[in-house]
Amino acid sequence: MAEIGLQDVHKSFKDVEVLRELNLTIKDKEFFTFVGPSGCGKSTILNLLAGLEAVTSGAVFFNGENVNALPPGDRDVAMVFQSYALYPHMRVYDNLAFPLKVKKEAPEEIRGKVHGVAAVLGLEPLLKRFPRELSGGQRQRVALGRALIRRPRVFLMDEPLSNLDARLRVEMRAELKELHQRFPATTVYVTHDQEEAMALSDRIAVLNRGRVEQCGPPEEIYGQPATLFVAEFVGSPPMNVIDGSLLPHLPVSPSVLGLQDEGNLVVGIRPADVDVLSQEETGTLSAQVLLIEPTGNNTWVDGLWRGMKLKGRAVPGDPLTPGRPGFFRILPDRWHFFHKTSGRRVG
Ligand SMILES: Nc1ncnc2c1ncn2[C@@H]1O[C@H](COP(=O)(O)OP(=O)(O)OP(=O)(O)O)[C@@H](O)[C@H]1O
Ligand SMILES: [Mg+2]
Repeated sequence: MAEIGLQDVHKSFKDVEVLRELNLTIKDKEFFTFVGPSGCGKSTILNLLAGLEAVTSGAVFFNGENVNALPPGDRDVAMVFQSYALYPHMRVYDNLAFPLKVKKEAPEEIRGKVHGVAAVLGLEPLLKRFPRELSGGQRQRVALGRALIRRPRVFLMDEPLSNLDARLRVEMRAELKELHQRFPATTVYVTHDQEEAMALSDRIAVLNRGRVEQCGPPEEIYGQPATLFVAEFVGSPPMNVIDGSLLPHLPVSPSVLGLQDEGNLVVGIRPADVDVLSQEETGTLSAQVLLIEPTGNNTWVDGLWRGMKLKGRAVPGDPLTPGRPGFFRILPDRWHFFHKTSGRRVG
C-alpha cells in the first residue's frame, strides 16, 4: 500500500521557482492526475516523487515516511514516460523481463510473470519482436507492461499516451482505467489533456504556474471550477467568459454573490449550457451566427454578440444560417460567477 504526501513542497531551478506551496495527500490506490498547460511543473512533480530531483524545500512522504533522502532505486516506484524508452536491441520479452533480471529473480519466476503481464496487455503474439517492429500503441503497451511487472507500490506516468493518434489514445485510456480497476495501485498521472484527466482520474489537481489551482474529483472540477483559470482550462469547447456588466440580466444580484463592487463580476457559461435558437424568446441574447460546427453528438454555434464571440449548442431541428441572427439562451442554474480581479469563484 502507498499513500503519498507532499508537504509545503517548493522547487526552484537556480533562481526560477517552478513549484510553490504544494500541499496534498494522494490516497492509497488512488488514480491521481496533475493536469495543466505546458511548463506548469507537471513532470517536475513526478521527478520529485521518483527521487530523480530533490525538493528545494518541504517534504515528500510515502506512507508517512519522509523519503527526501531516499534514492530512486529504493523508492519502489515505476515510471512510464511519454517516449516509451524501450531497449531497442531487446525483444519484447526481454524488455518486459529486464526489471526482474535486475532484481535477480529466478528465470522460472520471470517467465511466469512475463507471460502473465503479456496476457493482461495482449502482448503474447508480440513477445519475439523488437520494438522497431511494433506500432506506437504496442510499444506503449510494452512500456506499461515493464512498469506493471514489478508490482511497484507507486506508478508514475508522464503523458504516456501523448505519442498515440487520437483514436488509439482513447482506446489506451480505457485500457489504463480498466487495468487500474483490476489491479488498483497508487497511480500519479500527468497530462496536459483535460479530457484524459477527467476520464481517468479519481481526483485531479489543476496546476497553473507551479501552483495547485484546484484539487478534487472530476465532477467537482468541471461542475464547480474554483477559479477562472480552471473554468477556462477544463471542458471542451472552452467556457464562454463574459464581463458581468455586459449582461442585461443576471439570475442573482451581485450583492447576493457577496460582491461589493458590481463591476467586478465575470460570468462563465459552458457552450453545452447554451441553446441557440433561430427565433427570439424572452431572455435570449441576440447574436449574429458566425460559424456552425457539427461534431456528431453536438452542433456548436459561434455567434457574435456585442463584439465578442459566444459559443452555444444548436437545438436539433431548428435551422440556423451563418450571417443570420441566432438567439442564445443560457440555461438557468448553469451560470458560474467569478471575481474579476482575483479570478476566484463567488456565490
Ligand atoms: N532541469 C531544469 N533546469 C532548469 N529549468 C527546468 C528544468 N526542468 C524543468 N525546468 C523548467 O521548469 C518548468 C516546469 O517544467 P516541467 O517539465 O515540469 O513542465 P511540464 O508541466 O511537464 O511541461 P510539459 O507539459 O511541456 O511537459 C519549465 O519552465 C521548465 O523550463
Ligand atoms: Mg512534462
